[in-house]
Amino acid sequence: MGDLGRHHGPIVCVVGARPNYMKMAPILRAFAAEPRLPRAMLVHTGQHYDLILNERLFEDLSLPRPDLNLGVGSGTHAVQTAEVMRGFDPVIDELRPCCVVVVGDVNSTLACALVAAKKGVPVVHVEAGLRSHDRSMPEEINRLLTDQLAAVLYTTERSAHHNLMREGIDPARVHFVGNVMIDSLLAHRARAVPPSETLQRAGAPLSILDHPAGYGVVTLHRPSNVDRPEVLSDVLATLREVSAELPLVCALHPRTRANIERFELSHLIDGPNMVVLPPQGYLEMLGLQASATLVLTDSGGIQEETTALAVPCLTLRENTERPVTVEQGTNTLVGRDRRLILNCVRDVLRNGGKRGRMPELWDGRAAERIASHLAQWLQRQPALAGA
Ligand code: UD1
Repeated sequence: MGDLGRHHGPIVCVVGARPNYMKMAPILRAFAAEPRLPRAMLVHTGQHYDLILNERLFEDLSLPRPDLNLGVGSGTHAVQTAEVMRGFDPVIDELRPCCVVVVGDVNSTLACALVAAKKGVPVVHVEAGLRSHDRSMPEEINRLLTDQLAAVLYTTERSAHHNLMREGIDPARVHFVGNVMIDSLLAHRARAVPPSETLQRAGAPLSILDHPAGYGVVTLHRPSNVDRPEVLSDVLATLREVSAELPLVCALHPRTRANIERFELSHLIDGPNMVVLPPQGYLEMLGLQASATLVLTDSGGIQEETTALAVPCLTLRENTERPVTVEQGTNTLVGRDRRLILNCVRDVLRNGGKRGRMPELWDGRAAERIASHLAQWLQRQPALAGA
């Protein structure tokens, strides 16, 4: 191991992409309120850089401006990961942090964990132990490796503990604290933007909100669903069929929009009951989800948000790393099977679908528990305590 005693500077918190922001916002707030913790600094890797995927969400979540932005931008996974590592390396030398906090499973998470661990700086992983058991997902690789590198692992659900034990992680490093994303959701729920306002601002017809069945919300961006023309066209054709019974509001990720154009599939999202929006702000997405009849998605975070909002969610994937949302929440895995998807939609329209219940410790206080535990943990580190 490296010399931990060299590192007694601030806590360095890393974000890179959209799903990181709603996790880091409550953590930074809780760290600031915990007097036993050193100062926290925010480093943005620049993995996401679009105004709407990025700055707008920072505003919605009242995230402070990052102290540093590495500006890495897009690239292949190898290039993006390597660029984050290259950018983060001197940051560790300069700041000598007492620990590096990473969240979730994006390329920036793994890249910064790897740099920190090799320099002997303890890595703290928030949302540890989730496993889809599907290594064709880039996020699964990021999760597996980040957890191997982490000194402290904070988990959101009980399944995570079992996954980590199977991988030989020392149980003393693992702490079940609840879900920081739900901290954000509960803190912002009252400020959610009404769907009528969101549609109006986008110049979309409001008539969709008067449909007796209500409306569904769609988000799609997984490479497995959107990167191959035959798959994407099949998924969009299914959604078009769904829209005949339930109007759909689709918030399109840039990757998905680009592929729809490249594969010439625009006609499939151009129906009378389909509203296509650009990526939305946090408060707009919250408002759209909260009032929806159901949500169709391949996102990880939205599976959890719909469970917390008690809105039925059909996940267009074969697996989930968040099984508590299926076992206790409102989530149903439907893959891409058109019959199954239509049957599930009809079931929701007839019977209201799964209502579920709030999973254990998804109570809005996960970040506080992290701050309090981390303060004690840092005090126990001999090299740090003596510094
Ligand atoms: C990343 C995360 C994924 C997360 C998603 C949320 C990894 C491996 N994946 O996927 O887990 O659910 O973010 O959005 O880290 N692009 C823009 N503007 C941007 C960023 C990206 O237009 O600000 C476009 C680029 O064309 C880029 C593509 O989106 O090539 C993909 O971006 P990238 O950051 O590589 O991964 P995501 O698919 O967004």
